[in-house]
Amino acid sequence: MDEATTSEGEQRRSNERRGADEQRGADERHRADEQRGADERHRAPWWWDAVTYQIYPRSFADSDGDGIGDLPGATEHLPHLQELGVDAVWLSPFYVSPQHDAGYDVADYRDVDPRFGTLADFDALVSRAHGLGLRVIVDLVPNHTSSDHAWFQAALASAPGSPERARYLFRDGRGPDGSEPPNNWRSSFGGPAWTRVPEAGSGSGQWYLHLYDSSQPDLDWTNPEVRVEFESILRFWLDRDVDGFRVDVAHGLVKAPGLPDWHGPDHTLGLRPEDPRPPMWDQDGVHEIFRQWHELVAGYPGDRILVAESWVDPPARQARYIRPDEMQHAFNFAYLSCPWDPERIRRVASTTLAANDAVGGTTTWVLSNHDVIRHASRLGFPPDHAPGQGIGPQDPQPDALLGLRRARAATLLMLALPGAAYLYQGEELGLPEHTTLPDAARQDPVWFRTYGHRAGRDGCRVPIPWHSDRPAYGFSPTGASWLPQPEVWAALAPDVQQGVPDSTLELYRAALRLRRDRRLGQGRLTWLDFGGSSDMPHENVVTFTIASVHVIANLGKGSLPLPSSAHVLLSSGPLADGTIPADTTVWLDRS
Ligand code: NOJ
Repeated sequence: MDEATTSEGEQRRSNERRGADEQRGADERHRADEQRGADERHRAPWWWDAVTYQIYPRSFADSDGDGIGDLPGATEHLPHLQELGVDAVWLSPFYVSPQHDAGYDVADYRDVDPRFGTLADFDALVSRAHGLGLRVIVDLVPNHTSSDHAWFQAALASAPGSPERARYLFRDGRGPDGSEPPNNWRSSFGGPAWTRVPEAGSGSGQWYLHLYDSSQPDLDWTNPEVRVEFESILRFWLDRDVDGFRVDVAHGLVKAPGLPDWHGPDHTLGLRPEDPRPPMWDQDGVHEIFRQWHELVAGYPGDRILVAESWVDPPARQARYIRPDEMQHAFNFAYLSCPWDPERIRRVASTTLAANDAVGGTTTWVLSNHDVIRHASRLGFPPDHAPGQGIGPQDPQPDALLGLRRARAATLLMLALPGAAYLYQGEELGLPEHTTLPDAARQDPVWFRTYGHRAGRDGCRVPIPWHSDRPAYGFSPTGASWLPQPEVWAALAPDVQQGVPDSTLELYRAALRLRRDRRLGQGRLTWLDFGGSSDMPHENVVTFTIASVHVIANLGKGSLPLPSSAHVLLSSGPLADGTIPADTTVWLDRS
């Protein structure tokens, strides 16, 4: 060995030692920082990192056998959620409603629809949930009422210009005989956003605005009477001990003055801060309403919360809904909409975290809900294939095995991210979308208003299974089910998965337990680079540390070597010969 080689070797070893020392120092500093952060956040309110489980009451559990889930059914199954390890439940609407939009068309905000039970059943649910340590969030639908609501019926019976009409957005039509709608807005469910009403004596009269179905007339939030009414509704449910409200269409309450025509996109997705806002979405005026609600809710004991259902881009605009004097959570739809693409996942996660950090708020994560294709099916398509709203038997079908593998990996990735998370009923069982529902079974107004062009959301709303060998897989005692359940439900029922180590149910339980024990939701995320090779460039890996866990998600096509001496805490799928297979996420111990 010549001198040059020896000194090069020493140099290299000394560099490596220095590198290792620097790395150790950086690690220690990072841990100290993180500990400080965690100590501070340990005093953070419960909702900072809560995991909330969405119950869609009509499809969760049916106690009386009419094929529609109800509140007593939900109460009976709350222990399943406690065992799962969530912190809160969010109940989609159970109020009196003609159910033209599955309860998002409320006819009486202060009572329970008889299909779902009674107010006493609601009280029993809250008390049982609280007894099990679960908070209860209810849905509030303030953008529109049902057309059956007493206010709308009074508006129809009253003359144009009356105070009864002034609670909604009634306008004269355009054209010489007023037969053209007042503007060119479209309903989010398809078709025009205006419907004309008959007028006493004249046959045809004014038009009313409905951003959704014609059975969901929009309220006029510039009318003080509307504000007073909703404050009273908030108090009604706060007095019944709810822990918060999920606010439906939070970005839609206020419309631009004059309701001008609009020729841009009918949503805010993909908009930049400098782009003009559609006149029906994300108007600045909504924030004043939420500031008032913040005060009202804060007047009650127990850290109760407001959650924005606001489909708003870019993340900095969305973050405005969770400024310290407004709401506590806003659903991260940018994350939900992100394809299974490592670069985009990293980008969405970092930009939403940065935007929410900038206002001192927490970030939420969500992959499924009652409006979108379940992620176990959505991820069963190639990343560049964007299925529309719903999947019908005629449409391309997802790869079920691939979808489930990716869904498990996506969930494990999501549950390690800092902040709060939302789960949708049945995802803990790995339920796929029902993609072959017969047309005759469909009930979503989207299906009807688009003349079958968009399949709609019924496929994610199918009643969930509880027991593999009972009628309706245990959903109802009679076997009735308001939507038909696919046969694969049998193999996914909790009684089949319970105690089976590699089942999806046990994966969720283990992940939620570890997430809580290691306080991942309160951790500080540090993105890492994965040492790439030509077979597996690091671009295909999403990897980061958080609290005492090192997360690696392999989104590439090949396997990745596990880091040497890795201690695997949890893995979304089987690990083969010290490697992480494609579409698999692992949590490694770094404590
Ligand atoms: C959002 C709800 O999640 C959806 O189900 C409903 O159809 C619309 N808002 C209208 O209320």
